[in-house]
Amino acid sequence: MRPNPVLIEMAPRDGLQSQNSQIPTAVKVAFIEALSKSGLSEIEAGAFVSPKAVPPMADSLLVFQKIKRKKGVLYSALVPNEKGLDLAISASVDKIAVFTAASETFNQKNINATIEESLKRFAPVISKAKALRLPVRGYVSTAFFCPYEGKIKPEAALKVCLELLDLGVDELSIGDTIGRASPDDVRRFLDLSLKKIPAGKTALHFHDTYGMAVANALAAWDEYEISRFDASSGGIGGCPYAPGASGNVALEDLAFAFESCGARTGLDLKKVNQSLDGISQYLEKPFSSRLRKVL
Ligand code: HMG
Ligand code: MG
Repeated sequence: MRPNPVLIEMAPRDGLQSQNSQIPTAVKVAFIEALSKSGLSEIEAGAFVSPKAVPPMADSLLVFQKIKRKKGVLYSALVPNEKGLDLAISASVDKIAVFTAASETFNQKNINATIEESLKRFAPVISKAKALRLPVRGYVSTAFFCPYEGKIKPEAALKVCLELLDLGVDELSIGDTIGRASPDDVRRFLDLSLKKIPAGKTALHFHDTYGMAVANALAAWDEYEISRFDASSGGIGGCPYAPGASGNVALEDLAFAFESCGARTGLDLKKVNQSLDGISQYLEKPFSSRLRKVL
């Protein structure tokens, strides 16, 4: 039975984190509020990371303080360490996301830690979050390819996933950070991981550099009953530590693909598209979304 997919909105975080110029906080707030009305159940609205490392996320506390939250929508944020968690708590986030990688070089460049060090850093973050009943997501970046180390073995990605689960994360998000994976790479990983990790705890996070993200998501959904997918409206974004990588798959393109196969996403794609109008003039790259051209 193919589950109805849940699309998790990444644009306010993954979409905006690699901007060179600062987008006014009020514009971000209006963007998130508009997205909230499009049927989404979860929006990653910011990141409590070092403002020196990722300047576009420096106003995340203000963003969280200012957004009018819609009942039923979870507003989450990235948290790399205890300092980030304290900020996230003061911002009253609904969910936190810790993030590490399957490749040492990427992790070092992204969060200045080995994989092992990052997991040690997360242990107190996750315990404290759990004590506060905050759900925790764990990202595993470069699960298929690393911009520095090339192809990553599924076993290496799985090892990090299992370690994160041992620490108590509620959900994993498996990242194709540079958008290079094919459906076969995804199948190889899921063939292995689903022996140990339930599909319900597995979200997939596809960037779309090589245009394979929709095919990857459909394969995971159709053949493996994965139901949770990260996506970014308009297809905006990229990762500051993965040079050349495009944004996440466009939320509306992915939703359209699922709906065309008979699934229900609960999203109003016209509203998703309209949410982008106010922010479009501040973006440095054109939208990659195909649907935006026809909606
Ligand atoms: P570090 O330099 O090793 O850490 O950075 P530190 O503890 O020595 O702190 C350095 C400075 O940052 C200090 O300030 C700290 O106070 C401050 P200073 O004394 O120099 O003025 N600091 C913080 N400030 C605010 N919030 C915090 C925080 N922590 C320290 N939480 C660190 C280590 C992890 C902090 C840094 O490398 C960092 O913030 N990295 C974030 C990188 C990032 O956000 N990358 C993009 C997101 S990941 C991604 O896009 C992939 C994903 O989408 C999945 C996929 O596609 O694969 C999730
Ligand atoms: Mg990403």
